[in-house]
Amino acid sequence: MAKPAPLIETEGLTKTFHDGLDLLVLKGIDVAIYPGEFVSIVGSSGSGKSTLLYILSTLDTQFGGSLRWRGRPVESLNSNEVAGLRNRDIGFVFQFHYLLPEFTVLENVCLPAYRLRKYREDEIRKRALEKLELLGLADQAHKKARQLSGGQQQRVAIARALINEPKVIFGDEPTGNLDSTNARLVFEIFRELARKFHQTIVMVTHDPALAEKTDRTITLRDGLVVADVRNAN
Ligand SMILES: Nc1ncnc2c1ncn2[C@@H]1O[C@H](COP(=O)(O)OP(=O)(O)O)[C@@H](O)[C@H]1O
Ligand SMILES: [Mg+2]
Repeated sequence: MAKPAPLIETEGLTKTFHDGLDLLVLKGIDVAIYPGEFVSIVGSSGSGKSTLLYILSTLDTQFGGSLRWRGRPVESLNSNEVAGLRNRDIGFVFQFHYLLPEFTVLENVCLPAYRLRKYREDEIRKRALEKLELLGLADQAHKKARQLSGGQQQRVAIARALINEPKVIFGDEPTGNLDSTNARLVFEIFRELARKFHQTIVMVTHDPALAEKTDRTITLRDGLVVADVRNAN
């Protein structure tokens, strides 16, 4: 069977921070992410995982080499086009959820959809409730975000990431700030999204036990890919 086209592809991707001294943090990364894959990125602290994730997800557009999103070089897009791509095609779940504490759970989940302006308000609320239902949080919809537990808040962040039905969900240590029970729960949600809905997911983690339950693990060391393996699951 012919391989499908990659959603994201890098070639010789580099990143230098100019922080007094020049610091070359990514030293030529070649990776391709295919539709429906659940990919983990691992590596020791400081190896460049977050830096790579921020570039792949277009949060950081200052890089060397090439990055293509569905065949289009991101370098060729203007800032409006990049913002459009990000709002439409990308969902984020970070280590800290960044919910608005005084807004309701439902309002938090709706926000990225208001920004995208693709659907009417009632449609957005209906979709948000569906996502909350999927994450077992429908009964929490009208509480303020700050009233939920840490694990629940992280699940709200996942619902928020899903609201615009992104092509790819990026997670930067999305389980990193949770106790082991909630970490497992959140990870299982990602796995279910991948299995049931073929959601493409790229997740940074420092937990090898979680990484090996993803489809594929990319290992970074000192700004280079040193392994890129399919996991037996
Ligand atoms: N904004 C920045 N300015 C300067 N150096 C940075 C910046 N962000 C990250 N770095 C450096 O880049 C390297 C990789 O960082 P990072 O991608 O956060 O690693 P990881 O997520 O794997 O722990 C580290 O040496 C870090 O100190
Ligand atoms: Mg990091």
